[in-house]
Amino acid sequence: MQIITSLRDIKEQTEKLRSSGKTIGFVPTMGALHQGHLTLLETAAEQNDLSICSIFVNPTQFNNAEDFKLYPRILENDIEALKKSRCAMLFAPSVADMYPETLQLKFDFGELETVMEGKFRPGHFTGVAAIVSKLFHAVRPHKAYFGQKDLQQYAVINRLVTDLSFDLELVCHPIIREADGLAMSSRNRRLSEEQREQATQLYKALQLASGLSKAHTVAEVKEAVSKHLQPFAAIKLEYFEVADVNSLQPLAEFDASDRVALCIAAYVGEVRLIDNVII
Ligand code: PAF
Repeated sequence: MQIITSLRDIKEQTEKLRSSGKTIGFVPTMGALHQGHLTLLETAAEQNDLSICSIFVNPTQFNNAEDFKLYPRILENDIEALKKSRCAMLFAPSVADMYPETLQLKFDFGELETVMEGKFRPGHFTGVAAIVSKLFHAVRPHKAYFGQKDLQQYAVINRLVTDLSFDLELVCHPIIREADGLAMSSRNRRLSEEQREQATQLYKALQLASGLSKAHTVAEVKEAVSKHLQPFAAIKLEYFEVADVNSLQPLAEFDASDRVALCIAAYVGEVRLIDNVII
């Protein structure tokens, strides 16, 4: 596996690959890789001539300085995991290279930013859109792979690709879960043993909501989710939302013709986790 740390070098390499007719599958990450990332890379390698992974803990998408500071950084382990995967190239740039000057550009994704992650993490999607644009310009992928766990991020990037006419295809990969249902996330590493155990309740709450949605109102389902999580001392629910899967706008009622996303965000101890199921 080739490891590239400068923007100039990755552009040179991907330019060469493109002009020799090779197709590039790209998996952008912030590192602390888990099986979810490795599955995306596997799919990218299968569907393209080669796969490229980026690892960059992007400062501009953190609205909470402590969260940025504590985000797991284990590059050496990640490199070992990537070497065993079908990743052909790792791009791991520095902050100075990606942001030679303070980012001034601001994105406005309209109503997508007024709900859920957009509402609770102001400025987050501007940071995501900025770094993803920079990475797309550098890596110039034919296909880019994102996980469904960050459903709203996927919707924002989809908008970005459409509005800025990026010439690539986006792939949204289903959530990869631990055996007990917890959605895989780099942040799970920060959970204590007890918090890790309680964290499984987020998926259990989503399953409960999914079952209840067949015969109950949105208000009743919301009430049931909040009641379900109450006994778990480590969990502080931030939101549970019933949303249209495309617009991600909240739905007041279930309608059999809608594809609905049940989305949850909660603190488990100090660690903020998100998850969703589509029904
Ligand atoms: O999903 C992530 O890991 C990040 O938000 C991304 C897409 C790599 C941008 O920093």
